[in-house]
Order: sequence, then C-alpha cells, then structure tokens
Amino acid sequence: MNAFPSLTTPRLRLRPLAADDADFVFAHFSDPEVDRFLLDDDPVRTREAAQAIVDFYVGAPGPTPNRWVLERLSDGLAIGTCGLHNWVERDRRCEVGYDLVPGAQGQGYMTEALSAVLAFGFTRLGLNRIEAIVHVDNAASLRLLSRLRFQREGVLRDLHLRDGVFHDHVVLSLLARDWTVAENQGR
Ligand SMILES: CC(C)(COP(=O)(O)OP(=O)(O)OC[C@H]1O[C@@H](n2cnc3c(N)ncnc32)[C@H](O)[C@@H]1OP(=O)(O)O)[C@@H](O)C(=O)NCCC(=O)NCCS
Repeated sequence: MNAFPSLTTPRLRLRPLAADDADFVFAHFSDPEVDRFLLDDDPVRTREAAQAIVDFYVGAPGPTPNRWVLERLSDGLAIGTCGLHNWVERDRRCEVGYDLVPGAQGQGYMTEALSAVLAFGFTRLGLNRIEAIVHVDNAASLRLLSRLRFQREGVLRDLHLRDGVFHDHVVLSLLARDWTVAENQGR
C-alpha cells in the first residue's frame, strides 16, 4: 500500500515509490556506483528484478515497509530513494536505507532528505529507534549518519555474503530522545 505521505524539504520532494517507477529503479540500482555497498539483497541485474522491488513496496499490505523517491524540485528529476524498512512495530523501531544517483552526491541532498524522514519517523510515526547498517568501508554513508547524530554501536561481522566474500557492517542508531535533544539545541 506504501501509504506514507509525500514530504517536502527546501530542495526535494519525497514521494512514495509508485507502480510506474520500475525503469528508474532498474537504471538506479543497476549502477555499480550505487550498488557497491548495497549487499543486503541480490544485485538488480534485470528489469524484472527492479519490478519485483516496486511490487514489494507498492503491493505491501500495510503502510510499512516504505520507500520514497527523491525528486529534485528544481527540475523534477528522480535523484535517489530512501525509506524505512525492517520494522519491529512492537519495539517501535525500524531501519533506514538510502541511495543517490552518483551525479547528485556530495551536495547535501541526503542530509536534507533524511532530516525530514527522521522528524517524520519520530514525531508522526512514534518511532523510538531508527537503525542503520552500513558496510565498514562506506565512508560517505558513515559520514552522513554521523552528521545526523547516529551513534555507532558495533560491528556485525561477516553480515552479508556477496560473490563469495563475507562483509563486515557497522550498526548505528538514533533514538527519539537523542534526536529531540539535538533538535531543541538547534543541532
Ligand atoms: C550514502 C550516500 C547517500 C551519501 O551521499 P552524500 O552525497 O555523501 O550525502 P549528502 O547528500 O548528504 O551530501 C553530503 C555532502 O555534501 C556537502 N554539501 C554540499 N552542499 C550541502 C548542503 N547544502 N547541505 C549539506 N551538505 C552539503 C557536504 O559537505 C557533504 O560532503 P562531505 O560528506 O564530503 O562532508 C551516497 O554516497 C550514496 O548514495 N551511496 C551509494 C548508495 C549507498 O551506499 N547507500 C547507503 C547504504 S548504507
């Protein structure tokens, strides 16, 4: 159902992934620069695999998991995605995921998008803990989470297997109370 609302930030519209997004999803996730550290699922190598991702989100029976497409307000171009998945509703926690097309990286778009997603998650969805799981070598992603005040909790050794190699990942989290303090201090 993917029923979360669209969110707007100064430069972006975050709108729910839609049934006709398979072409974008294919082009985006089959790009080796985007896929390099996305090891929690099989690589997207066919349009059918992209369609399966769209169907997973668009056809989900409830509002979770969700994925937004990031549209740049200045030109309407889709420049990435982000979303909240792996929900454990009993514990009011879930995981955040995100990715930008290479040409949109290094310009603060994901900091902007996730700031809105975190505010939405903590204030509107009542989440207590938002987790992130990041490949140990994914420096840009770790920098982004540090900027957003996620705390590093440890390393999950050999978490994902890709092409015969196991990969360690860092687990990080942001709690509602820490986010609230940071917001009140104006970051
Ligand atoms: C992870 C990923 C989204 C991070 O992207 P990013 O471009 O570094 O993040 P942002 O869009 O927030 O940009 C931040 C950078 O833009 C700069 N910037 C420029 N203008 C800015 C602005 N107005 N506001 C904030 N930052 C700005 C910042 O200085 C920062 O650079 P720095 O990290 O060198 O200090 C990106 O590397 C990516 O999509 N990777 C492939 C997919 C992936 O690995 N996903 C994560 C899996 S865990």
